[in-house]
Amino acid sequence: MKNVLVIYYTQTGQLSSAVKATLLPLENDPSVNIQYEQLKPVKPFPYPWSYMEFFDVFPETVHGIPCELEPFSFDPDKKFDLVVIAYQPWFLSICIPVNSFLQSPQAAKLLAGKPVVTVIACRNMWLGAQEKMKKRLLELKADLVGNVTFVDRSANLISLITVLAFVLGGVKDKFLGIFPKYGVTEKDLQAAPAYGVKIHNSLITDNFLYLQSELVDEGAVIVKPNLLLLEGRGRVLFPLYANYISKKGKSGSKERRTRVRIFGIVLPIGILILSPIITIVSRLAPLIASGKMKKEIAYYSQNSLR
Ligand SMILES: Cc1cc2nc3c(=O)[nH]c(=O)nc-3n(C[C@H](O)[C@H](O)[C@H](O)COP(=O)(O)O)c2cc1C
Repeated sequence: MKNVLVIYYTQTGQLSSAVKATLLPLENDPSVNIQYEQLKPVKPFPYPWSYMEFFDVFPETVHGIPCELEPFSFDPDKKFDLVVIAYQPWFLSICIPVNSFLQSPQAAKLLAGKPVVTVIACRNMWLGAQEKMKKRLLELKADLVGNVTFVDRSANLISLITVLAFVLGGVKDKFLGIFPKYGVTEKDLQAAPAYGVKIHNSLITDNFLYLQSELVDEGAVIVKPNLLLLEGRGRVLFPLYANYISKKGKSGSKERRTRVRIFGIVLPIGILILSPIITIVSRLAPLIASGKMKKEIAYYSQNSLR
């Protein structure tokens, strides 16, 4: 009998659909026992979010400040053969509930020496968050053996509009009837069990050595050159702006509202201006620096930290 623990957080169920579709081959094997643990913040994050609530979580998310979670039901001393951590990036960082789990004493006990597969379902920018995940897992002495990503495949500016309608307006269908539906498509979910087959093989044979390259071959890792460059800008600027807001006050405080509000205006406008410029640069990059871009894509497709 193989024991698998799935730790996940989701607001609308999008991520749980993605992780369940991925793990279907394991579910179908009676010799695999899967336990799901949904993380629940004591003070739940809202859905849909108000404009202020959404941008106010930015500094604490970027700084990795944890929130209080409801008690876990898993036993951290149980021998799990694989732990799956399914999470969303928030502001190019690990979302607060999952980051809070990673900072708990139970996570330290549970993850030391264990193989871990991460599953991400997001808009399209997950590279920075996964770098932070690699770092945390390394600190916890866990062995990151696989990463599976699900993204919204629309053009960056389209999904910027639809994600805002989705998180701020609670719009789960086509926004205004003309925009594509936000998120992971049915087609991508149908492809997910093929990733699970690879995970299942590794689990049964106790050999995770080739899992990541097999997942990459199956198309489980989506790295786009334009987003790679855009995220690079964000990763430099976000900590600076997060500090600028935090200096004014704690989460939700009146004193920092103006700075949060400015961020809420500057961020979408910044993406709006930078996105087309970076798309052009990324189209040229293969011509002027093809080796470097290939190396970057290869780096983000694997699990070690540089
Ligand atoms: C506060 C917040 C910040 C987000 N930041 C990002 C981000 O940096 N990159 C990204 O690709 N998606 C981002 N998203 C979208 C989420 O990754 C995810 O698609 C969305 O929250 C729906 O997930 P769920 O239905 O599983 O809860 C963000 C969402 C929220 C609520």
